[in-house]
Amino acid sequence: MVFGVIGPTLRLRLPEEADAPALFRLASDPEVTRWFSWGPYTREEEALAYVRRLPAQRERGEQLDLLIDHREHGPIGITGLSEFSRRDRRAVVGSWLGRAHWGTGANIEAKALVAHLGFGPLGLERIGSYANVDNARSQAALRKVGFRHEGVLRRFHRHGDQVFDVASFSLLADEWRASPLAEVPVRFEGEVPPAFVP
Ligand SMILES: CC(C)(COP(=O)(O)OP(=O)(O)OC[C@H]1O[C@@H](n2cnc3c(N)ncnc32)[C@H](O)[C@@H]1OP(=O)(O)O)[C@@H](O)C(=O)NCCC(=O)NCCS
Repeated sequence: MVFGVIGPTLRLRLPEEADAPALFRLASDPEVTRWFSWGPYTREEEALAYVRRLPAQRERGEQLDLLIDHREHGPIGITGLSEFSRRDRRAVVGSWLGRAHWGTGANIEAKALVAHLGFGPLGLERIGSYANVDNARSQAALRKVGFRHEGVLRRFHRHGDQVFDVASFSLLADEWRASPLAEVPVRFEGEVPPAFVP
């Protein structure tokens, strides 16, 4: 069975080539990719190239990107875990949603699904997250779901010729267990991609 993490309105699943048109539409909006080193997409082929890079990154255990599939609206964004340290049982989450889905609660549910996956089957102790120091919305969104601000990583993220300071956040397994995110009903389908099984 195909791998999926299923919540009340969202399902996280592996992105497929057939998702490229939807990902292109969502991330061709400059507001969505404003804080990223990539985008906005100007051609559908860029979204297709992104989807095609994922299987090898998954097989190497580097990055587990998941499409956020909404029960009514279909694909609405991406959330992914990267920077895995197997020894330290940690990874970093990063997410984006199409503009129409900001402020709808989708980010909260998507974070609940990722946290269940990370602290459950993936056996993580810590999920970190980064936000540009000026990305106030993203920082507020992280705080809202229980991530704690840890400090600022100076000159951490390069976009072309510019290098940005980044705010570092984290959620620990114990904090998650005591948080509203852990109360969201979640079920798993299929097998976790093997490189991420602890
Ligand atoms: C980051 C992202 C996934 C968050 O999802 P979201 O649905 O927008 O988040 P939420 O609405 O749940 O939370 C955002 C909070 O920030 C608040 N906010 C919005 N603009 C703000 C600002 N300029 N300063 C401070 N807070 C702000 C909102 O009011 C909201 O809080 P509230 O629910 O208490 O009113 C989404 O905004 C997104 O895809 N952004 C573009 C990509 C991106 O920046 N990703 C993160 C990279 S680190």
